[in-house]
Amino acid sequence: MSKNLIAIEVEFGTPAHDETVKLRDDILRKPLGLAFTPEQLSKEYADIHLACYNSQHDLVGCLVLARLDNKELKMRQVAVREDCQRMGIGQFMVEESENIAQRDGFEKMVLHARNTAVPFYLKLDYKKIGKPFTEVKLKHYKMEKTMSNQEVIKN
Ligand SMILES: CC(C)(COP(=O)(O)OP(=O)(O)OC[C@H]1O[C@@H](n2cnc3c(N)ncnc32)[C@H](O)[C@@H]1OP(=O)(O)O)[C@@H](O)C(=O)NCCC(=O)NCCS
Repeated sequence: MSKNLIAIEVEFGTPAHDETVKLRDDILRKPLGLAFTPEQLSKEYADIHLACYNSQHDLVGCLVLARLDNKELKMRQVAVREDCQRMGIGQFMVEESENIAQRDGFEKMVLHARNTAVPFYLKLDYKKIGKPFTEVKLKHYKMEKTMSNQEVIKN
């Protein structure tokens, strides 16, 4: 599946970014009876917005990467189109995000996982940290993964 996918960093405020916000709204907010406010979205100005397209150039998933400091990158708003879930798209986007983290020298990826998504992140080697907490009405766990930034020593 992943060879038919492409992940692109889209620029904040462009039509491609607007499309990711709509997908996030459909998958992550509307089911909870919530909506993004302009203030929430404007705070994402400096973040990395990753959009994932299939071979027909349709948007099938997206996520946001926020730089917490120069060591930690926070993966947020991971959303896969409903009819495309469980086809490897989420895994592909997480792997692409880890490539970005390693490229940019981050040491750790952190995230707040919905309880229902914890098994997905566990499969991708993220570890649960601490006790559960409530965020956007749902039980969440903090999870994290250390990035392997060691240079490969070639003989
Ligand atoms: C959670 C989500 C991002 C996962 O993406 P996806 O494309 O559906 O998942 P993938 O197909 O890449 O799954 C990768 C592996 O995780 C497993 N997995 C995915 N979602 C899972 C879940 N909810 N529970 C258990 N396992 C899950 C898959 O079975 C697969 O395992 P396999 O390789 O052994 O077959 C996606 O389903 C989604 O958008 N869900 C709704 C929104 C959401 O919960 N976002 C996360 C907020 S923290």
